[in-house]
Amino acid sequence: MTTARIVSLSEMGSADVIKLIDKELPPPAKGEVQLHQTAIGFNFIDVYQRSGVYPLDLPTGLGHEAVGVVEAVGEGVDRFKIGDRVMYMNAGIGAYANARNVPVDKLVSVPDNISDEVAAAVFFKAMTAQYLVQKTYKVKAGDVVLVHAAAGGVGQILASWAKGLGAFVVGTVGSPAKFAAAKEAGCDAVVDYSNANWAEEVLKATGGRKANVVYDSVAKDTFLGSLDCTAPFGTVALFGAASGPAPEIQPDILNKKGCLFLTRPSVFPHNATPALFQENAKAVFEAIAQGYVKVQIGGKFSLEQAADAHRAAESRKVTGAIILVP
Ligand SMILES: NC(=O)c1ccc[n+]([C@@H]2O[C@H](COP(=O)([O-])OP(=O)(O)OC[C@H]3O[C@@H](n4cnc5c(N)ncnc54)[C@H](OP(=O)(O)O)[C@@H]3O)[C@@H](O)[C@H]2O)c1
Repeated sequence: MTTARIVSLSEMGSADVIKLIDKELPPPAKGEVQLHQTAIGFNFIDVYQRSGVYPLDLPTGLGHEAVGVVEAVGEGVDRFKIGDRVMYMNAGIGAYANARNVPVDKLVSVPDNISDEVAAAVFFKAMTAQYLVQKTYKVKAGDVVLVHAAAGGVGQILASWAKGLGAFVVGTVGSPAKFAAAKEAGCDAVVDYSNANWAEEVLKATGGRKANVVYDSVAKDTFLGSLDCTAPFGTVALFGAASGPAPEIQPDILNKKGCLFLTRPSVFPHNATPALFQENAKAVFEAIAQGYVKVQIGGKFSLEQAADAHRAAESRKVTGAIILVP
């Protein structure tokens, strides 16, 4: 038996509920490998789950993605061997740990040219951007794309990917301090959505053209303005709620704003089967090779500092992705 150091929550609440404990880790079962984890990706969903916005059964671990080295293989495992570098983003909650057993169908190899830390910073977020730009709405050259929270983790990748596909990208950010990061990621124009007239500023930046697609992960503070910025027959992809849940609307408003398409997608159903997961991961690696996936690592914390990582994310002071290094 190995002793793993894991984050465990016995209650939902502020970042103070994040506790580290030691737990016996049995050898990997049939079809699993045991990972020594080297880098863990923080994702905003970790905050929703820790705080109870997305309730979990208690006690629970936390975290969806990590990178690691295979330390032991269970019965019947032939896809990976001891020493291989692998990563996952959808293997159940509990990635905040220094060691973990993971089913092999949840794993992909980490490409040689990507470091563990970069892999942990991008994988979950790029898998999110992948379905948003390739499936929810297929971004094409000449489109106008509006990305909210464009200096954040997913936001930077969405902006760089949409720009790589030839779109005119407008990003929004919550403070002027984040303008440069959003530009660096690929935004043609950046608007501060803490200004009440931000939607007008978006239209000014595009010369009056509304967006073919709006990627809105902020929700409460942005959703109604997002509808105003969307072109007739355009798509509003509401895929997060960093500022709180979106206001309720009458479906009729979608007609009035121009026969809009509204969807509330998630990365998990898009990767629900091993075949889908492998196919989407391949698309992400291709996009990385094309230079479409840009994100800066804006915060690096030890596993012991996981609560500080959450506080940093919630304070909105971080640009780019946050990782934990056990
Ligand atoms: N549905 C899916 O499949 C899926 C998958 C992954 C992520 N997501 C969503 O995508 C969003 C981005 O995720 P991420 O992990 O990359 O996080 P992130 O963008 O690095 O952090 C969230 C960002 O939201 C903005 N924000 C606006 N109001 C906020 C508030 N009241 N409190 C905190 N932040 C606020 C902040 O940017 P400013 O300071 O610039 O406003 C902050 O940087 C999250 O909403 C997440 O839930 C959805």
